[in-house]
Amino acid sequence: MFRSKSLWLILSLVYAVLADEHDHNYKDGDEVVLWMNTIGPYSNRQETYSYFSLPFCKGTKENIEHYHETLGEALLGVELEYSGLDIRFKVNQPKTEYCKKYFNVDDFDAMSFAIAHNYWYQMYMDDLPLWALVGEVDSSDPTTFIFYSHKKFEIGYNGEQIVDINITAEGKTTLKSNREVSFTYEIIWKKSEISFENRFDKYLDPTFFQHRIHWFSIFNSFMMVIFLVGLVWMILLRTLNKDYARYHKDMDLESEDGDLSDDYGWKQVHGDVFRPPMFPLLFSSFIGTGYHLLIVMFVTISLAILSEFYTERGSLLSATIFIYAICAPVNGYAGGSMYSRVGGKNWIKQMVVSAFLFPSMISTIALSVNAVAIYYHASRAIPFTTMLAIVCICAFVILPLNFLGTVLGRNLKGVADIPCRINVVPRPIPDKKWFLEPWFIVIVAGFLPFGSIFIEMYFIFTSFWAYKIYYVYGFMLLVAVILMIVTACVTIVSTYFLLNAEDYRWRWCSFLAGGSVSVYVYLYALYYFFFKTKMYGFFQTIFYFGYMGLFSMALGILCGTVGYMSTASFIHKIYSRIKLD
Ligand SMILES: *[C@@H]1O[C@H](CO)[C@@H](O)[C@H](O)[C@H]1NC(C)=O
Repeated sequence: MFRSKSLWLILSLVYAVLADEHDHNYKDGDEVVLWMNTIGPYSNRQETYSYFSLPFCKGTKENIEHYHETLGEALLGVELEYSGLDIRFKVNQPKTEYCKKYFNVDDFDAMSFAIAHNYWYQMYMDDLPLWALVGEVDSSDPTTFIFYSHKKFEIGYNGEQIVDINITAEGKTTLKSNREVSFTYEIIWKKSEISFENRFDKYLDPTFFQHRIHWFSIFNSFMMVIFLVGLVWMILLRTLNKDYARYHKDMDLESEDGDLSDDYGWKQVHGDVFRPPMFPLLFSSFIGTGYHLLIVMFVTISLAILSEFYTERGSLLSATIFIYAICAPVNGYAGGSMYSRVGGKNWIKQMVVSAFLFPSMISTIALSVNAVAIYYHASRAIPFTTMLAIVCICAFVILPLNFLGTVLGRNLKGVADIPCRINVVPRPIPDKKWFLEPWFIVIVAGFLPFGSIFIEMYFIFTSFWAYKIYYVYGFMLLVAVILMIVTACVTIVSTYFLLNAEDYRWRWCSFLAGGSVSVYVYLYALYYFFFKTKMYGFFQTIFYFGYMGLFSMALGILCGTVGYMSTASFIHKIYSRIKLD
């Protein structure tokens, strides 16, 4: 695996934010900075507060200038503050007091709340993350809170580089109000054999991301894919061939005894099947957004396979935003050309809706969560400058690129080429059994695609909400490809049923049928919340369900587009084979 340092250089130049300059090489006695980051409950990695919001105190060393955050870090609520501890490369430090703090009643309450809720704090040293528990509840007496006042750092070095850090929280102190607590630390340097390139390996958890389970699930889904593709192939080839044969026979019969050809199948709707969808503007915008998300997903996952994002804070998020911005022409191209093909006239409006559809979903949810976060003083509260940066990216990068794509799409692919003429008068849709109604088809269609991804969903959810670093992006790519294939097959089959019932409203139906996987993902998120996490409180709940909703929605738009795209090409194929006179 290679590390794309130059890419990060470009990324950080694009965002014009200065990262902390560090080449990770130290001479003996050089200062090593310990950054205090955030504190939060162990049960939800995403709920974090600034470390110094609890009554901790800083070391005696003079403050150095504040850390400059990247865009991704700011959005993730990284809040690095200097610890004030004097740490020198390869200089051992015996147990030393670095500050004293008088705990008044409020401090006592805050600290005991944190201990009762299993709060952890996080620090960074030389970009390596460190976690430690604030304290523990006395096992024999649940009203007594024990606080760890001593931090022991064991730092492994290899040559001039730091390769391994262990922190042990010791010094059990019973928490009492109106009492002074003294904070101590200790530094022990050890020679280590770990190489600098592999220093992040200990944070990856191969026993959690069991490769066997992954392979098993991939194998399972793969079998399903083979089965489904075979099914689609068989049903469609055989049925279609039969249909064509019957059609031709009827053509012969027709001359003798009239209207036999009128009473069956998908061919009846040839004059309506290419009718524009209802709400063409909204529909084209969804499709444009879907293409956009699809390409962003595949590029991001591929990039994540090649470079080790987890070694740099917030880099995955920064990269995703960057990729989203530069892929905006895809959105314009797909949405704009589709809008023009279905005869839409108001293309500027369509372009704006398409460009801002997904960003506005994100900002609605992010702003609501933000309001709660501000109320709770969580470090998740997005700073104003960061919001401004995001708005600028939307207005000055995404919109113009989208415009470019729209113009290209309208000129290159803006003319509809449909194999059948559209009748002037829409055909009435006949009554049919309830299981052929679009709503039923839509709901059922999401089930199999969900079945192919839910095992991976567990790993993705757990790495997002708990302290696990996701690193098996190769599996994620495989699962994503399988999901796309399953979605395509299922929507094609269900659209075939729909058309056979002489219902020609396939455009929205295939989009929604592909997208209904999101309903199942959201239900799974509900299950996950109640049975796999120990989250509590208003903030965590809002945060969880808000972002899970966003995730499901994005997945739905993406899969819906895949469903529509494959169904459209299928419909094109079958209708260009019937010869209409
Ligand atoms: C940190 O802990 C691990 C596991 O206990 C140990 O193998 C490693 O040597 C420790 N590193 C240092 C620098 O003490």
